[in-house]
Amino acid sequence: MDLLKEKILTMGQVLSEEVLKVDSFLNHQIDISLYEAMGEEFKRIFSDTQVDRILTIEASGIGIACMAAHYFRVPVVYAKKTTSKIMQDEAYEAEVFSFTKNCSYTVRVLKPYIKPGENVLVIDDFLANGQAVLGLKQIIEEAGATLAGVGIVIEKGFQDGGKKLREMGIRVESLAVIGSMSRNGINFL
Ligand code: G4P
Repeated sequence: MDLLKEKILTMGQVLSEEVLKVDSFLNHQIDISLYEAMGEEFKRIFSDTQVDRILTIEASGIGIACMAAHYFRVPVVYAKKTTSKIMQDEAYEAEVFSFTKNCSYTVRVLKPYIKPGENVLVIDDFLANGQAVLGLKQIIEEAGATLAGVGIVIEKGFQDGGKKLREMGIRVESLAVIGSMSRNGINFL
């Protein structure tokens, strides 16, 4: 997606060969025109797919998922990383290991918010090692629903998440795929 790639090139900061800082437009300050265009693009890409619900993971996926859901006209639910006294209903849970942060965390979705038989589209901001998507897939399947596909804003193509998920037969569509990056520049695949 050209608009996104242009933002990445002009506003992204390469912190290392593995980490890209995009908090001026994507995951801290939010460029709403870009979000709107990304939501529309996800709708266009997955227009051949039945989508009954969008699932994401807090926090950065929420805004993007909402914008996509606006075009799909379906509900959004996000997996929570913390539990609270309000979460009295039973929840689907999955353990996610983050290589980027070198820690594990549990994600939860209350049972009423994914229904058996639904086709669920997963949306997230980054795809690195694919662990978050695998956790969400586990939750979707436990609910008796189907993973309809995965929409990603920025896939880091030099990490193995995309390859792993596609080899499992999962449809992964990324708006920008970075092949390599360094302080000298960013190359898209
Ligand atoms: P994985 O699910 O693909 O295995 O990814 P990983 O655990 O490695 O990613 C952990 C967190 O780091 C995620 O955010 C992800 O969005 C973020 N992340 C991964 N690579 C980059 C990067 O190059 N730049 C930036 N800015 N973030 C990256 P999170 O923990 O879910 O946090 P939140 O921002 O959604 O709250």
